[in-house]
Amino acid sequence: MNVRNATVADLMEMQNCNLHNLPENYQMKYYLFHALTWTQVSFVAEDHKGRIVGYILAKMDEEGAPHGHVTSISVLRNYRRLGLANKLMQRSQHAMKTCFAAKHVSLHVRKTNRAALALYKDTLGFEVVEVEKKYYADGEDAYSMRLLM
Ligand SMILES: CC(C)(COP(=O)(O)OP(=O)(O)OC[C@H]1O[C@@H](n2cnc3c(N)ncnc32)[C@H](O)[C@@H]1OP(=O)(O)O)[C@@H](O)C(=O)NCCC(=O)NCCS
Repeated sequence: MNVRNATVADLMEMQNCNLHNLPENYQMKYYLFHALTWTQVSFVAEDHKGRIVGYILAKMDEEGAPHGHVTSISVLRNYRRLGLANKLMQRSQHAMKTCFAAKHVSLHVRKTNRAALALYKDTLGFEVVEVEKKYYADGEDAYSMRLLM
């Protein structure tokens, strides 16, 4: 499996990957905004035929100390538990730090998303900063999480 920087040409496949996996879907212009503005911090994982099987869409936030924010990450079902999300997160965090001098990385996750919570907390060392009530459109709360770098 190859992990590399995402390009504008990948965006359709990334959006497709998202549609399979998450209730939060974004318009193509939002993907495009990320890819054009913060090219360095979004990545894709591709299989041996070059098909995209996972991605991380991330951005930089200038409010307060410069920090990265993970907008969306997902890995296709058949490719899970292979360490791909971990690798995508590590690559993005490294780019946030080296290209933009990020001091920390933030993200939101559903309170019930056991797999993602384990990835962020146990594998990567994120901590919960606060609970954001009814953050998601369906009324579910989010954990706002942060990792100092
Ligand atoms: C969350 C998600 C991105 C994880 O992707 P992945 O490539 O399978 O994750 P990894 O293989 O890198 O897993 C790293 C660690 O995360 C934890 N983890 C991952 N999936 C898990 C699961 N189903 N149950 C419990 N822990 C899990 C484990 O600690 C794992 O380490 P281990 O395999 O050595 O035990 C994937 O399940 C997914 O795409 N889910 C749907 C989209 C989503 O929820 N995105 C996050 C939105 S905030």
